[in-house]
Amino acid sequence: MQRFISVNTGNLLLSLSEITDIANPNIQAHQQRTAFIAMEIASMSGVDSDVLEDIFAAALLHDVGAISIEEKNELHALKMAESSFRNLDTHCIKGELLLKQTPWFNHIAKMVRYHHTDWKDMKFPIEDTDAFGAQIIYLSDLVERLIDRNVYILHQHENIIDIVKNLGSHIIHQKVVDLFLEVARKEEFWLDIVSPRLYHVLLHNGPFRNEMIGLDDIKHISKMYKDVIDFKSPYTATHTTGVEACANILSENFGFTSFEIQLMSIAANLHDIGKLAIPNKILEKKGKLTKEEFAVIKSHTYYTYYVINTIGGLERIADMAAYHHEKLNGEGYPFKCKSHEIGIGARIMTVSDIFTAITEDRPYRKGMDKNGVYSVFKSCIDKKEVDKRIVELLFDDYEKLEFNVKNKQSMAKDFYENRFLTYTGQIY
Ligand SMILES: [Fe+2]
Ligand SMILES: [Fe+2]
Ligand SMILES: [Fe+2]
Repeated sequence: MQRFISVNTGNLLLSLSEITDIANPNIQAHQQRTAFIAMEIASMSGVDSDVLEDIFAAALLHDVGAISIEEKNELHALKMAESSFRNLDTHCIKGELLLKQTPWFNHIAKMVRYHHTDWKDMKFPIEDTDAFGAQIIYLSDLVERLIDRNVYILHQHENIIDIVKNLGSHIIHQKVVDLFLEVARKEEFWLDIVSPRLYHVLLHNGPFRNEMIGLDDIKHISKMYKDVIDFKSPYTATHTTGVEACANILSENFGFTSFEIQLMSIAANLHDIGKLAIPNKILEKKGKLTKEEFAVIKSHTYYTYYVINTIGGLERIADMAAYHHEKLNGEGYPFKCKSHEIGIGARIMTVSDIFTAITEDRPYRKGMDKNGVYSVFKSCIDKKEVDKRIVELLFDDYEKLEFNVKNKQSMAKDFYENRFLTYTGQIY
């Protein structure tokens, strides 16, 4: 029996970073490309490997606070001139708050906080690692956005270099500009940025290539992504929290070991990570979805599977997380799994997901009471969609389960409303 998991740190971070940029060709691999540029500049400066890792990780996650695709598109489309006039602090502040909650990312939160701060407004010396890293990410992000994806890279790189030369040291510190100019002399650097194989370049040559990460850290990171996923929309701000709480109780009552319950917890935190690739205008639509819109929704568990499974070492978690819209009668989506392919973990996730979704209040409808929940599940059982044993477990001590789930959701709601939406960042 498997008792521990460990995965390559670089692969985990790259996969998680990729999901937010995956579905949109205009910003595809934006964070990876930014991280590559930042890594090259930081390496040129000769910093310690620890600092290099931090700058790389911060660059990979630099826009974690800009959660919706709509927000990301807007940021990406901003031209340089507008960038320095517009206050872009909101997503930096939100990114800092999310990262600060996670022990593993705590120390990169400041770099993310200041990744759009002009040098003239920075209150730390350039020798400060956070200031240095933030300036490198600022410049790397600008360079990445200056690249016209429709023009061959070596027909435009000299122009980009000229723009950076003329930025002025009030925006980016001269030391960082000089390092960039040294890196940018090589055509190889530019060809790497736009290479479709960049993921592999970063995986095999990046700072985390030989590092592994274990269960506890993966759990912490999945918890941060739980917030990222839920805070994408006020309508679902506590959804994943509810699914996780419910799946924990059901898997414990089913007789899962404590190790398996922890795997379930990670899987629950990530079960809807693929929704980061779906536009909010579809997720938040009040009326019935059109056939075309529903077809887009169907990709979310595909992306969940793709992201978790390709990390390597989390295959069991991928199954538990990504099969929550599969049905035992083979009519679910998008994998059309047969019942024998759907393990107990996935069956528990499905019931937890349905339970949480139908008991949640939405702006256009109230959450269901116990009778309503019962009739929904009865019809699911009649149609052979869900596992009857898990539904029975749900109703074994329904009131206690409902109380525990709601309790966790109200704590998450408090954090969302009173911290996330109102957080204004630190005075620097
Ligand atoms: Fe940004
Ligand atoms: Fe889902
Ligand atoms: Fe869900």
